Order: sequence, then structure tokens, then C-alpha cells
Amino acid sequence: MVLAPLRGVTIRAFRETFAAAIRDAGFTGAVAPFIPANPGFRGTDRVFADLLPGEEFDLPLVPQVISKDPDALRLFLEACKARGFDRADLNAGCPFPMIVRRGRGSGLFKNLDLFEHLVATGCEVMGPGKFSVKTRLGLVDADEIFKMLPRLDRYPLAHLTIHARTARQMYDGACDVARAVAVAEASANPVVYNGDVAWRDKNAMVTSRSGVTPLGSRVFAGVMVGRSFVRALGEREDAGELLADYIARSRAELSGDAPVLGRVKELVSYWTEMSRDWKRRWNAIKICRSLDELALAVR
Ligand SMILES: Cc1cc2nc3c(=O)[nH]c(=O)nc-3n(C[C@H](O)[C@H](O)[C@H](O)COP(=O)(O)O)c2cc1C
Repeated sequence: MVLAPLRGVTIRAFRETFAAAIRDAGFTGAVAPFIPANPGFRGTDRVFADLLPGEEFDLPLVPQVISKDPDALRLFLEACKARGFDRADLNAGCPFPMIVRRGRGSGLFKNLDLFEHLVATGCEVMGPGKFSVKTRLGLVDADEIFKMLPRLDRYPLAHLTIHARTARQMYDGACDVARAVAVAEASANPVVYNGDVAWRDKNAMVTSRSGVTPLGSRVFAGVMVGRSFVRALGEREDAGELLADYIARSRAELSGDAPVLGRVKELVSYWTEMSRDWKRRWNAIKICRSLDELALAVR
């Protein structure tokens, strides 16, 4: 079970703060939120800041890249290797219109030759079984993946992660689990299922909103879980202490109140869905304009 990349949420400060919870939940690794690799890419310390080794988080962490430029991708992957990473993941699923319009993320479905070129580059630089792809069923149509699959089959991926939606669906609407099963059955590479898997606890782990249990289905090599785990953190008795730790880590890393507030509001917004206490606090938290106000609001 892999922790999903959630940009702005499952960042380094989050992984460090919630390291024990992530481990106890049964996760065996995480994919980090995407890093863009555009022409002229330079792998500076700043670019790789989110991937710095943690003091607390000790599960395997896979860097993720978003790119439509094979040369920039190569530079990114070489930089990853130079920093000690032997795995990397390509984001071919981001649905945001600005990204898609520029042909990145799910926009790669508009240019399968380029999509394949990126996959070939990834496998060549990282080596067999060391590069993975995270994608969706398609951009508009849930069958688009089947056009790409024979091309992906030519490369020895670590695995293919399928978020069982189209990009047009963004993050809502039903996941097409049956279609994801069909992808897994047709794929030469192992397939990891993603989308609305409800994390509960280590033993009674997964049921999806659509009533299917992807982990129970043997066709999947694994499952990737994001939002349900983040939401569940708000139900912990020690959520307040952990949040204080998250704020402290974020303050040490960022300058000024605004970026810290942004981060905290994003995280707590997940907690309001499951917990009445956080819902009540949220009314005060969402209007905070300084960390002093926040300190009062989270009490
Ligand atoms: C706020 C947010 C940020 C995300 N950032 C990324 C990202 O950086 N890379 C990526 O591949 N997917 C990203 N995703 C998609 C998730 O990894 C995942 O595919 C999606 O949330 C469905 O899984 P879930 O229902 O378990 O959360 C993001 C999703 C959300 C809601």
C-alpha cells in the first residue's frame, strides 16, 4: 500500500510529522508530489528540497516528475540518481486544465508518441523495474488507456498506477473499478489501483465507495491511498499535537505566516469531513490571517 502524492499535502513536513501514523497504517512506501522538469531543468537543492532524507519518515520515497520534454526528464532522472534515488515515477495523470493544455500530466494522452518517448527515456535512465507511470483511464474517454497499454507493455516498468477516473472527472464522480481491473488484466506490467480507496485500519483496510475491494482483487499488485488516509488523521486523539508539530516544522522551513497558514488550512480542510470537532474549529481556522490567530483557533 503506497501513500499517494498529494501536492501541498503529503509534502516532507507532512511525511515527517505523521511518519509513525503512516507506518502504523500499513503503508510500505510513498510517492512524493510532482516536481516539474522543463527545458533547461537544473536539479538544484531547492528543487529537491521536498525529497531530502527525513529524520522520522523512513519508508522508501519515490520522486515524481511531470514533464513533456525527454531531455529535461533525463536531466531530472540523472539528478535523482546522483541524490541516491534508484526509482522515479512519471505523472501522466494530472488533470488541471493548465497542465493538460500544455500537454503534460493527462495531456500526454493527446500525444502517445511523446508519452511513449518519455516512458522509454525513464526506463533507459533508471533501468528495468525502476521507473513507474501514474496515469488515469484517459483524458475524456475511459478507454483511452487501452490505446496506450500496448506501448507501455514494451517497457519493463516497476508498475503502472491507474487512478480509475478520466481527467475530465477531476477528483469527483465514480471510479470505474471494473475498467481498472480490465487494465490490470490486459497489462504486461504490474498495475497498482488508485482512487477512492477508503482507508480504515490496517486489518479492515480497504473498501471503495463503489463497494468493490480493490485489494481483495488479486489482479492488482498493490493499492495507492491518498485522501481517505489524510482525512482519517483528523480523527486521531493526538491530531491537535500532531498539527502543532506540523505547524512548527512548516514555520522552520518557510518564511512568513502566509505560506504556513496556506499549508495548515489545506490539511485541516480534509479533517472537517470526518470530525465534528475539526469542523467547528475550521470556521475559525479558515479566516486566520496570522499564526497567532491560528494558535488560538486550533485549540
Ligand atoms: C490536492 C491534490 C494534489 C495531488 N497531487 C498529485 C501529485 O502531485 N501527483 C500525482 O500523481 N497525483 C496527485 N494527486 C492525485 C492523487 O495522487 C490521487 O491519484 C487521487 O487523489 C485519487 O486517490 P485517493 O482517492 O486515494 O485520494 C493529487 C490529488 C489532490 C486531491
